[in-house]
Amino acid sequence: MDRHLTDDDLAAALRRDVRAGLTATPKTLPPKYFYDERGSRLFERITELDEYYPTRAERSILRERSAEIAEATGAETLLELGAGSGEKTRLLLDGLAATLRTYVPVDVSGDFLAETVAKIAADLPALDVHGVVADYERHLPLLPAGPRRLIAFLGGTVGNFHPADRAEFLAALRATMRPGDALLLGADLVKDPSRLVRAYDDAQGVTADFNRNVLRVLNKDLGADFDVAAFEHRSVWDADNEWIEMRLRATRAQRVRVAALDLDVAFAAGEEMRTEISAKFRPAGLEADLNRAGLALTEFWTDPPGDFSLSLSVPA
Ligand SMILES: C[S@@+](CC[C@H](N)C(=O)[O-])C[C@H]1O[C@@H](n2cnc3c(N)ncnc32)[C@H](O)[C@@H]1O
Repeated sequence: MDRHLTDDDLAAALRRDVRAGLTATPKTLPPKYFYDERGSRLFERITELDEYYPTRAERSILRERSAEIAEATGAETLLELGAGSGEKTRLLLDGLAATLRTYVPVDVSGDFLAETVAKIAADLPALDVHGVVADYERHLPLLPAGPRRLIAFLGGTVGNFHPADRAEFLAALRATMRPGDALLLGADLVKDPSRLVRAYDDAQGVTADFNRNVLRVLNKDLGADFDVAAFEHRSVWDADNEWIEMRLRATRAQRVRVAALDLDVAFAAGEEMRTEISAKFRPAGLEADLNRAGLALTEFWTDPPGDFSLSLSVPA
């Protein structure tokens, strides 16, 4: 495993981001801090929920299209950003078996990534599995180069960027790509808002637990004293921006101390703090985003009901 993100880097970034987010109006926290080991496991449970259609939909597209992806790319390296458990990626690894030599899963969640690497390396001994602990918002230029790279960014995670940050991310990614490389991008599509809201607010409360996990991370890593039970999970459809917002709503007025930042933060009763956006796409908008970054769309697939998309694009 390569580590571009040491524990010290991560701690410094957490301090910087949390100070900025908790002193902003309205308050925000970046979604990457959900994913300590507990958060990563909670996310895996979310992917199995009835309400959370994106994983099933993307898996069905991968099952259907892996052979075409292999034929179109002839990939020698699969570099996967925000790989998580790499569970769906198995379909891609099987489909690409004829040409693939190296799998490079990249994730900010180091311990969870180490498990993913160990599992995949044990199952596929002929494959060189090379995990990289990195932040794809900062470390793209440091990721392994090599001929015929397929860069996969699955799960609809691209929707977690604010549009301006998404444009910057796609341009930075494009700048690392060479002729022969391709981008496989999973993006969730605009649909009935009630289904979207439910996908982020399941009946069992797993997503609520995942959302509140960011407060546990702040308690653990920054010596904060959030009363986790005093924050309610909210999933809200923003029709103007076409994104889901996850928020945490203070159920009563309270003050929180963040010891590592020497910071006291006041929450009013009912105050909402944004913890994630998850943008939903329309095909034309997605293609325009890719084009603006210097990428040309070569394939665009959806699952049969048209809930989720997987696209392939190459340097223009
Ligand atoms: C929504 S989950 C998707 C996981 C998996 N790709 C899937 O499709 O099920 C997002 C993943 O990206 C990782 N992640 C989030 N922000 C990141 C960042 N800035 N850099 C690297 N990894 C990040 C998380 O740890 C998590 O594994």
